[in-house]
Amino acid sequence: MTDNIELTHGQSRAFQPEKLSPPRNFIIPNIVIENKDNLPLLLEIGAGKGKHALGFVSQNPDKHLVAIERTRNKFDAFAKLTALQNAPNLDAIHADAIAWIVHAIAPSSVAKIFILYPNPEQHNPNQQWLNMPFFEFLLSRLRDDGEVVLVTNIESYMDNAAQRATEIWRLPNKRYQVPIDSQRTHFEVKYLARGETCWELSMRKPQGYKTRFDNWQADCRGIKK
Ligand SMILES: C[S@@+](CC[C@H](N)C(=O)[O-])C[C@H]1O[C@@H](n2cnc3c(N)ncnc32)[C@H](O)[C@@H]1O
Repeated sequence: MTDNIELTHGQSRAFQPEKLSPPRNFIIPNIVIENKDNLPLLLEIGAGKGKHALGFVSQNPDKHLVAIERTRNKFDAFAKLTALQNAPNLDAIHADAIAWIVHAIAPSSVAKIFILYPNPEQHNPNQQWLNMPFFEFLLSRLRDDGEVVLVTNIESYMDNAAQRATEIWRLPNKRYQVPIDSQRTHFEVKYLARGETCWELSMRKPQGYKTRFDNWQADCRGIKK
């Protein structure tokens, strides 16, 4: 059975994708346009130096990951390692993920999105992904039954994210504690070594979920790598 889930937006500000320019040197990897082998497409937002992305693609050759990092020096390190590993199922993108996703990704096309240790400025709740109007747009890019995975060592971030996932975004979700021997990212290794608790929130987009962006697609899709 398919439930129709309409978000109740109340007074919330809508995201305005049409106001965002494409990132500088904008490229769209071929897979995003054609995906001839029909591989599940996954995104990672804020990939840092790419530890998770590089490990993930070697363990999951049947999936394609586009990993986005906006900080130049981290991206440069990531790009070097990507070239050495030469994985056909990974694209490393240097861009702001918001502008890049708006201009590159079609609605209902992504199977899973990783947001690993986003670390906003502690006093700026507007920087938390589930507080952003953009999050609705992000959900519109996810397929039905697609998943968003958010991981953080900041308990108040996790509490807020879990509450918003349920009450605002109406996404079925589960919260886990990250095992202490997990080593997916550089920040994860650092926090767990310090004895901190890290939290993971897995959110699912149910069948029939509706957003205001389900038919929105940027004009400039088509500039291929
Ligand atoms: C604390 S670091 C974590 C890096 C990596 N995920 C890890 O766990 O080691 C957060 C990263 O997210 C990146 N980031 C934050 N907002 C971003 C955005 N809008 N687009 C792309 N990258 C972003 C930052 O540049 C930074 O490298």
